[in-house]
Amino acid sequence: MRDNIYADALANVAEFRFDEQVAAVFPDMIQRSVPGYGNIIAMTGLIAERHAQDNTRCYDLGCSLGASTLAMAARLPQRAVQFIAVDNSPAMLDRCRDAISSLDNAPDITLLCDDLQNVPIANASVVVLNFTLQFVPLAERDAVLGNIYNGLQPGGALVLSEKIRFENPVMQELTTDLHHAFKIANGYSALEVSQKRNALENVLIPETLAGHEERLRRAGFRNFGAWFQCFNFLSLVAIK
Ligand SMILES: C[S@@+](CC[C@H](N)C(=O)[O-])C[C@H]1O[C@@H](n2cnc3c(N)ncnc32)[C@H](O)[C@@H]1O
Repeated sequence: MRDNIYADALANVAEFRFDEQVAAVFPDMIQRSVPGYGNIIAMTGLIAERHAQDNTRCYDLGCSLGASTLAMAARLPQRAVQFIAVDNSPAMLDRCRDAISSLDNAPDITLLCDDLQNVPIANASVVVLNFTLQFVPLAERDAVLGNIYNGLQPGGALVLSEKIRFENPVMQELTTDLHHAFKIANGYSALEVSQKRNALENVLIPETLAGHEERLRRAGFRNFGAWFQCFNFLSLVAIK
């Protein structure tokens, strides 16, 4: 289904929520809004293939419709790993469940409808946070990363993908403009771009690359780096 949630002028633009309306159009929304999304999902599968260890768990925190989990599962057939996909939006998780069960040879995935902060991370070899940490309150992000680090096995990997901001005002303006141009090129109108931006204003709080790197260090990671960037969208991998 095509995302036209912000196509008509709205008297009041409400705060963005991952509700039924968003879940219904989510694949179209994220493809047309996040540059490199398809690559990031596919490469998440390759990173999982490299780092997954038998008799451990692969977590997808903020799984939405399960794209990252399914990318991992596709690269790890017949492997003794448990997939755990977490999202606190019932609408997202219902659709995720439907998407998985409609597959031939559906992988065995445990779906948890909960705040990712309530989910203990244990015996993990891969943890994925694709475009989710940005929605967690800033003050709570250190604890999320600390729990992930503690729950990872040595050699395990965290994939952390985020919208970022730049301290440098020229780069901030350039990447913001290019991101908007990307959305316009993908069929969104200027009104849609502007209303969505307002909806996300206090909901999606981006940080700088340096901010993410400092948090990874505070959590205990020593080996990490960006493996993908397009405009103001970035993916990091961190190895325990
Ligand atoms: C942009 S989407 C993530 C996209 C998904 N990872 C993918 O790659 O397709 C963010 C998701 O995180 C979920 N989310 C946000 N905050 C959360 C939290 N504290 N706990 C669990 N899920 C959360 C939202 O419901 C939403 O489905």
